[in-house]
Amino acid sequence: MEVKKDSNSMRSHYCGHLTVKQCDLKVSLCGWVAKTRDHGGVIFIDLRDISGRAQIVCNPEDHEVFSLAEKVRNEYCLRVVGRVRNRPQGSENANLASGFVEVVCSKLEILNTSKTPPFPLDDSSINENTRLANRVIDLRTEQMQNNILLRHNFIKEVRAFLNGSDFIDIETPVLTKSTPEGARDFLVGSRVNRGEFFALPQSPQLFKQLLMIAGFDRYYQITKCFRDEDLRADRQPEFTQVDCETTFLNELEIRTVFEEMIATVFLKVANVELERPFKVLTYKEAIENFGTDKPDLRINLSLCEISEIVKNIEFKIFADAARSGGKVSVLRVPGGEKLTRKEIDDLTEYVKIFGAKGLAWIKINDLSQGRNGLQSPIVKNIDEKALNQILEKTKVRTGDILFFGAGSQKVVNDSLGALITKIGHSDFGKENNLFESGWKPLWVIDFPMFEYDSELNRWTAMHHPFTAPKKEYEGMLTSDPGACLSQAYDMVINGSEVGGGSIRIHKMDIQKAIFTAIGISNEEARDKFGFLLDALSYGAPPHGGIAFGLDRLVALLCNAPSIRDVIPFPKTQRGQCLLTQAPGYASKQQLDEIGLTLKKIN
Ligand code: AMO
Repeated sequence: MEVKKDSNSMRSHYCGHLTVKQCDLKVSLCGWVAKTRDHGGVIFIDLRDISGRAQIVCNPEDHEVFSLAEKVRNEYCLRVVGRVRNRPQGSENANLASGFVEVVCSKLEILNTSKTPPFPLDDSSINENTRLANRVIDLRTEQMQNNILLRHNFIKEVRAFLNGSDFIDIETPVLTKSTPEGARDFLVGSRVNRGEFFALPQSPQLFKQLLMIAGFDRYYQITKCFRDEDLRADRQPEFTQVDCETTFLNELEIRTVFEEMIATVFLKVANVELERPFKVLTYKEAIENFGTDKPDLRINLSLCEISEIVKNIEFKIFADAARSGGKVSVLRVPGGEKLTRKEIDDLTEYVKIFGAKGLAWIKINDLSQGRNGLQSPIVKNIDEKALNQILEKTKVRTGDILFFGAGSQKVVNDSLGALITKIGHSDFGKENNLFESGWKPLWVIDFPMFEYDSELNRWTAMHHPFTAPKKEYEGMLTSDPGACLSQAYDMVINGSEVGGGSIRIHKMDIQKAIFTAIGISNEEARDKFGFLLDALSYGAPPHGGIAFGLDRLVALLCNAPSIRDVIPFPKTQRGQCLLTQAPGYASKQQLDEIGLTLKKIN
């Protein structure tokens, strides 16, 4: 950073930018006190700003400086003027950019005092609620500042890529009509239109399609989306999408553009080189092999279905599942013979969270001894022929354990999918080379068009109802919805769904067929999406796009356990802001103005 010429300026340099190059230079720094140390009469202050830290030396010979330095406490805001010099030999700190120099203070100004912070800034064990309630202090920690800076760089590089690829940044409304992305809406009352409500957008989906129909060719927006849904580590009620849409590109062309965007941004922001082209799995392959449509390919474990083999065996739990539309799958864990009974019991309890009734297993103590070399509570129930077929199909080896999941498709997929993740990330997984660190991006394609919602008793759109079917299924939308595949795609990195998109429907007849398939009547379609249907009738072009979860992408690069760690002011898992205490109650006058009367809530 250049020395500022303006002598009135409060600051000539940033703390973290001082190096031996500035030796003998008089500098002025501004920042916060990270630490003070009294070393036999000399007071050292670690001064911190956005760039890092500088060591300030306050000598007792300089009475004025020294007596002020004695008053300084952590988190005081200071201005320091002094001369830069080399740190004495042996006291350098090679971990800091400015660790080879120090500033001998000749003028110290206390710009503001500080109360003792609610927690030490260098303590990483502080409970998250305490951090969120005191977010300003938490945002001063090195970790949070790094995360927010990385987020800034990420956004900067995304914009650079998209601007350079002829995408146009266009805003869309926040006060709008319901947008169907599968969650509940947040509603906003209206004083001017009393009794009526806006919905906050779950995504700009319909507006970006309208922009393509209007001829803008390539759109993007880095924008907030709002979804009232159950929250998790990777879900916030308001989150940020990098939302994109293009005209006249097919699915592969769209995926190629955005694969390049993510690879470019990862390289520029974090020097991470993603192997290209990304692996591509169909939805069916992902579910069959990993039990999930967002597999973490760093984990070297996969599933093997054995329904056909066990459907006629005597063991009822397996045979019934295989015969009644469910399935039986096996997870082979190399080295798993070492797992203790307690560890297996813990895994059994774990899969129960996902609806599994139990977790059958076979340890392969010695494959060469046939049945005698196996240890298992269930093996006695499996006849010789089926047992041999299972051992062959799973390509089992001595030292392995086989875990079995039997039940409905959903329960087996969910529970064994979760088991893969659990074992892969455990110490056991790492010690047994079941986990390979690094970056494993992939595309998941060929999603089903619809999924059956047994509560609503009807088909619903798996992505959203504007997603186009693959050409060959256009005629089957209402006659066999369950068989139809869509032109939807997700990008998954290290087990996190970071983006999803699709080719859209641009023909009115197909859009109507989709509404029919998911039980939306003509009147309802007109009422909810009349503006889209109208636009489709004015020469709508073929178009498609994708939206990325910015928070998830940044969290991955920051290695953050939750997206809350990369959002400056997030909500808790219960959807509350502990800093501002939102949401809160509205006054009677505010409710009256928008025409609302509240029901009594216990
Ligand atoms: P989708 O609903 O898949 O698609 O969302 C796109 C991406 O947004 C991220 N995401 C979230 N991140 C944090 N908190 C949430 N509650 C949350 N919900 C979603 C995910 C997801 O992959 N309109 C379509 C996109 C399109 O078709 O172009 C859409 O919103 O990373």
